[in-house]
Amino acid sequence: MSTEVKKSGRLLKAPENFLGQGDEKSPETMRRKFLAASVSTAAATFAGLGLQASAQAQAAVGAGDPNILQLPAHSTGLGMPVAANPYGAPSQYEKGLQRRESPGLTRVSAASVAFTPLQGTFGIITPSGLHFERHHQGWWDIDPSKHRLMVMGLVKNPKVYTMDDLMRLPSVSRIHFIECGANTAMEWGNVAVPTVQYSHGMVSCSEFTGVPLSVLLDDCGIDRKQAKYILGEGADGSSMTRTIPLDRALDDVIVAYGMNGEMLRPENGYPLRLVVPGIQGVSWVKWLRRIEVGDQKWATKDEAIHYVDLMPDGLHRQYTGIQEAKSVITTPSGGQTLLDKGFYNISGLAWSGRGKIKRVDVSVDGGRNWRTARLETPVLSKAFTRFNIDWVWNGGPAILQSRAQDDTGYVQPKINQLRAVRGTRSIYHQNAIQSWKVAESGEVSNVQVY
Ligand code: MTE
Repeated sequence: MSTEVKKSGRLLKAPENFLGQGDEKSPETMRRKFLAASVSTAAATFAGLGLQASAQAQAAVGAGDPNILQLPAHSTGLGMPVAANPYGAPSQYEKGLQRRESPGLTRVSAASVAFTPLQGTFGIITPSGLHFERHHQGWWDIDPSKHRLMVMGLVKNPKVYTMDDLMRLPSVSRIHFIECGANTAMEWGNVAVPTVQYSHGMVSCSEFTGVPLSVLLDDCGIDRKQAKYILGEGADGSSMTRTIPLDRALDDVIVAYGMNGEMLRPENGYPLRLVVPGIQGVSWVKWLRRIEVGDQKWATKDEAIHYVDLMPDGLHRQYTGIQEAKSVITTPSGGQTLLDKGFYNISGLAWSGRGKIKRVDVSVDGGRNWRTARLETPVLSKAFTRFNIDWVWNGGPAILQSRAQDDTGYVQPKINQLRAVRGTRSIYHQNAIQSWKVAESGEVSNVQVY
């Protein structure tokens, strides 16, 4: 490693309320503030980054640091009692990391999206409180003792299940991503939003627990000769109804009540939702109350008017559910500022609705040269895969990109390759390579590179 590599770069976070009101802090003001504040904590930061600087050098940097010399209250007094916060919550210092609504995106907040702050999560699991939300007509906290699931249609014994019934059945727990088909939709025509939270935050990854749908269909005696599709229906006022082909329904679909070790959160469908791995989020029907088995597609409003792809020839494509391979660098990413030259860990997420991520390549020069990133374990099917790669920023302009490949051999396209096939008037399934430009000032912004 060169001396340059040993010096780790510090990163100024993106203003958390980037699109909110009252964001009077410009990156420059924040940079100056951060620099001033960081002088006194340089030693701690230095040590915290695990650098290989000599003990002598560290001592010199830390000399006179009150954060080392003066014992804080937490080192001398009695801490908080157990169960002071019986459920637990993040540190007060992390309160900027939140799901956020993009102002002006929809007229009513009940029919809107709150985006996951991908720039601030680690590993592959999205904390339940940061899991993105997308509702067509608001969310409800439904009393589980009154919630029922009806299974009917082409089955010998139509049944109604209570939550108790369902939770007694054999269960599975699987880690999967869920991505709204409209994720990154704002970027079809042009660069539209500044941070990865808004450009890619309609995707999350959780461990879901529930009953395989195949178990329920067998329990009701599905007519395997005639049945070809199932319909999932939600209990909210949006009349969310989605057709799912039977082979998929019998494969890996789960009727889920658990998420990340606890019951689903109300925003995410408590007490029951469909988990349809690899398929766009709209099919993951929340507050699930009915499953109908049929022999043809239903062409409901959310399959005929919405969630169709407008192609360049003016025709609509229907039933395009699979979320193809996609990736994004989450740090450094839009709105952040690189404060020093030197070492940075480029980190990001990749996922594919068709299986496992096989490889992620990263470019720092806008796609001229590529290096293969490290895939961190576990690498699971239809789940987030975390990738990391070392980078030494020399202070010059750079364009950071990641390109995912899944185990079918499919390679994430460039934006112009995608537009050549899909045009620019689509909403759904925008999985193009994302580009983040690093300016000489260190500021990172969203750009499109063809
Ligand atoms: N199910 C019902 N009943 N009502 C809804 O509005 N929204 C759908 C889907 N399931 C929705 C629903 C859409 S468009 C998406 S992207 C996902 O739920 C979002 O799931 P999440 O809010 O748990 O992230």
